[in-house]
Amino acid sequence: MLMPQLKEARKRTKKAAEVKKYEIDDKLKTLGLGKTYYIKTYGCQMNVHDSENIKAILEDMGFKESSNMDQADLILLNTCAIRENAHNKVFGMIGRLKHMKQDRPDIITGICGCMAQEEVVVKEILDKYSFLDVVFGTHNIHELPGILDKAMHKNKIEVDVMAIEGDIVENVPVKRDSKYKAFVNIMYGCDKFCTYCIVPYTRGKQRSRRFEDIIAEVKGLKEDGYKEVTLLGQNVNAYGKDLNIKYDMSDLLEDVAKTGIERIRFVTSHPWDFTDRMIEVIGKYANIMPYIHLPLQSGSDRILKLMGRRYTKESYLKLFNKIKATVPNAAITTDIIVGFPGESEEDFLDTLDVVNTCKYDSAFTFIFSPREGTPAAKMKDDTPLKVKEDRLHKLNEIVNKYALIANQKYLGKVVPVLLENVSEKNDDMLAGYTDTMKLVNVKAPKEMLGEIVNVKITDVKTWSMDGEIA
Ligand code: 5AD
Ligand code: SF4
Repeated sequence: MLMPQLKEARKRTKKAAEVKKYEIDDKLKTLGLGKTYYIKTYGCQMNVHDSENIKAILEDMGFKESSNMDQADLILLNTCAIRENAHNKVFGMIGRLKHMKQDRPDIITGICGCMAQEEVVVKEILDKYSFLDVVFGTHNIHELPGILDKAMHKNKIEVDVMAIEGDIVENVPVKRDSKYKAFVNIMYGCDKFCTYCIVPYTRGKQRSRRFEDIIAEVKGLKEDGYKEVTLLGQNVNAYGKDLNIKYDMSDLLEDVAKTGIERIRFVTSHPWDFTDRMIEVIGKYANIMPYIHLPLQSGSDRILKLMGRRYTKESYLKLFNKIKATVPNAAITTDIIVGFPGESEEDFLDTLDVVNTCKYDSAFTFIFSPREGTPAAKMKDDTPLKVKEDRLHKLNEIVNKYALIANQKYLGKVVPVLLENVSEKNDDMLAGYTDTMKLVNVKAPKEMLGEIVNVKITDVKTWSMDGEIA
C-alpha cells in the first residue's frame, strides 16, 4: 500500500523532474478484454484531461467505454478536492457505488484524482469504504495498467498513491472528448501555495513540460484537424520557471501561435507572473484568443496578503488596464472567494469595488471552504455563514449584471464561432464559443460541426447568446 502523506506533499525540492515515456507491458494489454468502463469526472479541465488519458490507457488494456454506469464492469470516480462540496458529491457517489457493488459483486470500483492525494480522505476510505477496489492518485496515472492488475487479482482494496509528485511522462495515450478542440498540458503542479488552496498538495511541485514536446503535440493536433488548443496548467504564466532555460510563457505562446493552429487559449493565469511580454504576444497574434481568465480572489489588500497572493488591488488593476489597453477586445473573467477568514464588510466592499471597476465578462464566485492541511484552514474565522452567503449573493448580482452588459455589446454584431456540438437546449441548433469565450447557440446544420463560422448575434442573455450564420 502506498499512502498519500500531507507532510511529504508540502515539501519542495530543487530536483528537476525527469522526462519518461509511457509504456505498457504486453501482458496487460488483454486484462480488460470483454469488459467495459465508466469514468465520472469532477472538477477542472486538468481533471477532464486526465480522464481523457485514463480512458485511452484503459482502452490500451482492452476495456471499452460504456455510457451507462449501471452496466459498466469498471467504475472510476476522478475526483476534485478544491472545496468541501466537491468532496461531498464524491462521498455521495461512493455510497451509490456500495449499493452497486452489493448487486454486482464482480464490478471493480475505484477513486482517483485530487481527493485520492489527500491523506485524510484515503484514511476515511480505508476506515469506512474499503469495499472499493482501487485508489490511485494524480502522479501515477501512467502506471494504471499495473495498478489495476494488482487490484483485479486481490480481494482487498489496492491503494497506490504516490506521496510526492513523480516525473513528467510523455506519450501517455489520450482519447479526446472533442474532435475539434484539445487540451494540452504545459505544466503540472503549483508552487504558489496560496493559503486557502489544496492544489499544491494534491498536484505537487511545479513541473513544466519541455517546449519541444508541447509544440510537437500542437502540430500533431493541427495535422489531425483540430481547430483549437487550450494550454493547461494551474498557473501557466509561471511556465518554464522550473526549467533552467531562458524560455518563458511568452516564448511558448509565440511558438504555439507560429504553428498556425487556428485558436489558442490558456488557463489559468496568476496575476503575479503575467509579464508585459505575454500581453504583447497575446495582442500580436490573431490566433491567440482575446480571452483571459485572471483570478482576483479578493479586492482587499489585507485579505490578499493573508491569502498569500503577492499582489495588491492597485497592481491587479494596473495589470488589468494594461491588458485592456493592448488587447482592446479582450474578454476578462475572474475567480472570487468571499468569506475568507477574517474578511470584514470593508474588505468585501473592496472586492465589490474591483468588480465595479473591471466589469468582468463573467466570474466564478465561491464561499471560502477550509481545506485540511492548508494554512487558511487554521485561521480564525468568525464570520457567520449567513453573512458569507449574503456577500456571495450580493456579489453574484453585480457579476451577473456586468455579464449581461458585456453580452449586450454583441447584439447585432457578426463574430467568429467554433461550432462544437449540438445545442443542449435545441436539437436543431449547434453550440460553440466566440473567440472571447461566449457561448452561442446557432441555427445551423450538423454538417457545419467543427467549423469556425461568422455568426450574427440575434439575442443575448446573461450566460449565452443566440445567433444565425451570417
Ligand atoms: N475555498 C473556496 N474557493 C477556493 N478556490 C480554491 N480554493 C478554494 C477554497 N479553499 C477557488 C479559487 C480558485 C478556483 C479554482 O477555486 O477562486 O481560483
Ligand atoms: Fe491554488 Fe492557483 Fe494559488 Fe496555485 S496559484 S495555490 S492552484 S489558487
